[in-house]
Amino acid sequence: MQYNSHKCSHSSPIEAANRMRTVELLEVKQENCSVKTLTFEDPLCSKAEPGQFVMVWIPGVDEIPISLSGIASDGLTSITVNAVGDASSALNLKKKGEIIGVRGPFGNGFVPVKGNVLVVGGGTGLGPMMPLTENLVRISSKITVMSGVKCQDNLLFLDRIADLLSSVDSETICTTEDGSYGFEGLVTSQVEKKLAAEHVDMIYTCGPEPMMYRIFLLAEQYNVPVQASLERIMRCGIGLCGSCVIGELRVCKDGPVLNSEQLRSIKDEFGKFRLDWTGKKVKQ
Ligand SMILES: Cc1cc2nc3c(=O)[nH]c(=O)nc-3n(C[C@H](O)[C@H](O)[C@H](O)COP(=O)(O)OP(=O)(O)OC[C@H]3O[C@@H](n4cnc5c(N)ncnc54)[C@H](O)[C@@H]3O)c2cc1C
Ligand code: FES
Repeated sequence: MQYNSHKCSHSSPIEAANRMRTVELLEVKQENCSVKTLTFEDPLCSKAEPGQFVMVWIPGVDEIPISLSGIASDGLTSITVNAVGDASSALNLKKKGEIIGVRGPFGNGFVPVKGNVLVVGGGTGLGPMMPLTENLVRISSKITVMSGVKCQDNLLFLDRIADLLSSVDSETICTTEDGSYGFEGLVTSQVEKKLAAEHVDMIYTCGPEPMMYRIFLLAEQYNVPVQASLERIMRCGIGLCGSCVIGELRVCKDGPVLNSEQLRSIKDEFGKFRLDWTGKKVKQ
């Protein structure tokens, strides 16, 4: 007897994206002491929006969410990974030619706007700001990229930023907490200075949540809209498991990029609480 499969041959875009693909690492670039950029080829990721992320499977170790730091129309995709624990460290030990798995791209992206924009990255949070800046240089009238790190050794993408901004009205502001490069202190002080000095049409940000929360408060004070990319524990990446819930929102599906209105709706938890691995609400 012939077996007739009832499976539909046409899958939805999310089903297609959720299928794990194994990809070969075409390049592994050391960016600083603990951060590497890994490049691979994947047709689905080449159509991603800046701000979207992939679930990266490190065989035998774990699967973790990582934002796309490079999206090229020729199919090349990059992720920039900071080695903080088991999975991210194992990922950063991968060599050119080795295999990882990817699902995605998931979530929403940053919405580019015309006008005077601030792009603020904290640490590795600068990663997703790079493809965003690539899009902004085509439409925005002025771009200020701000990078905040602990010390000079943690700086990222200085050449890439200089290259990207070379032909537009722009400024690059770096801050280090120890004063070893650029302005001494937190990047949020420079954001405040900027907002006090000129009219800004949009702030884009990704980085540690206390930094983004402070930027959100400043943006509210100066009446400037903000788009912030949030991080939460993620398992499914597609809105099913609930591990990334904040308020009424799921960061994997409603975010990771949230706008001012959405951030207002979660202001009791944003910058204050998150779910731990057991799903319990814990202080940040
Ligand atoms: C949407 C999204 C996008 C992300 N994009 C990126 C990205 O582009 N690049 C990147 O490097 N990471 C990114 N992350 C964070 C990344 O997923 C985590 O760093 C990773 O899950 C850590 O896994 P691990 O097993 O190595 O560490 P774990 O074992 O989970 O953690 C080890 C230790 O590191 C701490 N830790 C965990 N995450 C972080 C962190 N982000 N920063 C500092 N300390 C941390 C933990 O508190 C713990 O103490 C993203 C996360 C989300 C949700
Ligand atoms: S990661 Fe499962 S709901 Fe967001």
